[in-house]
Amino acid sequence: SSLKAAFEGKFHIGAAMSSRHINNQNQPSIDVLKSHFNSIVAENNMKSGLIQPREGEFNFETADKFIEFGEANDMHIIGHTLIWHSQAPRWFFTDSNGDDVSAEVLTQRMKDHIHTLVGRYKGKVKGWDVVNEAILDDGSWRKSKFYEILGEDFVKLAFQFAHEADPEAALYYNDYSMANEGKRAGVVKMVKNLQDQGIRVDGIGMQGHLGLEHPEIEEFEKSILAYAELGVTVMITELDISVLPSPRRNMGAEISTNVDYQQSLNPYTEGLPENVQNQFDERYLSFFKLFLDHHDKISRVTFWGINDGDSWKNGWPVRGRTDYPLLFNRDNTPKSVVRDIIE
Ligand code: XIL
Repeated sequence: SSLKAAFEGKFHIGAAMSSRHINNQNQPSIDVLKSHFNSIVAENNMKSGLIQPREGEFNFETADKFIEFGEANDMHIIGHTLIWHSQAPRWFFTDSNGDDVSAEVLTQRMKDHIHTLVGRYKGKVKGWDVVNEAILDDGSWRKSKFYEILGEDFVKLAFQFAHEADPEAALYYNDYSMANEGKRAGVVKMVKNLQDQGIRVDGIGMQGHLGLEHPEIEEFEKSILAYAELGVTVMITELDISVLPSPRRNMGAEISTNVDYQQSLNPYTEGLPENVQNQFDERYLSFFKLFLDHHDKISRVTFWGINDGDSWKNGWPVRGRTDYPLLFNRDNTPKSVVRDIIE
């Protein structure tokens, strides 16, 4: 039995493919992908900095391979991401003198980028993360270059351009810490505002980079309900559960020099102690119970990687850590909690 079979008819089960996965499809983790998952997203290869590194110069090689793999294996293919402040090339916002471009130029660049990318994979990519991470945790707008140059309208424009390029594709807003009260209010307000202007938003992606303690599952549930209330589908788009302490919470000047502190941030290099493993298993089980309770509102649950060795959490927000955030071990064996999730 498999994850995808267990949730058949409820929601898709997805995984992010790294460029290593896409470029070498003869590795054991690809077997895991094919047997347990029915949806894929590229972890990096469709981001603007990788796909259009210089103006008008598109690099579709890896993205094309990713799409071919998805089609050959009957995967529900997701595009990530059209408009994001991060992993965006600097040229996008600047003129030849290095100054900010005008609103007109940025609008034209967004249009060209989105039309080219969405147009190329029209009918193949079923849903796009059109805008990623535009709202801060307190609900206010992130002061990104898109926001600075275009104001709030950049979101509306992005959705319009994506819709023009593929009217059939589902269009999503995606963000992190979506269980946070302030973020929830800000996102609800933004989406309502788009809807009031006649913009079709099909779904909201809650990234789902979870910790063992944060966020509280009750808050996560409130967000599922609040987003579904807008009449859109809800997706868990980048699920992982880090077992490591979050250095953000106590980031101090000593962080780079204090060796003990660094070691305290990477405590499980030899594997997980039983109590932490149990906590991890219970955390996954309660979240999947929540997803099942709300399966009528949730259309997809996507993991950010296939096995623990793939995970970006080994390198972020501190480099060189050993994390265990996914459902498959580094040797591609399923963790015991997989059986419990399936049952
Ligand atoms: C991450 C990738 O996993 C890393 O490989 C890359 O170095 C940085 O980006 N939110 C998102 C994802 O929407 O695109 C990010 O992916 C993780 C946070």
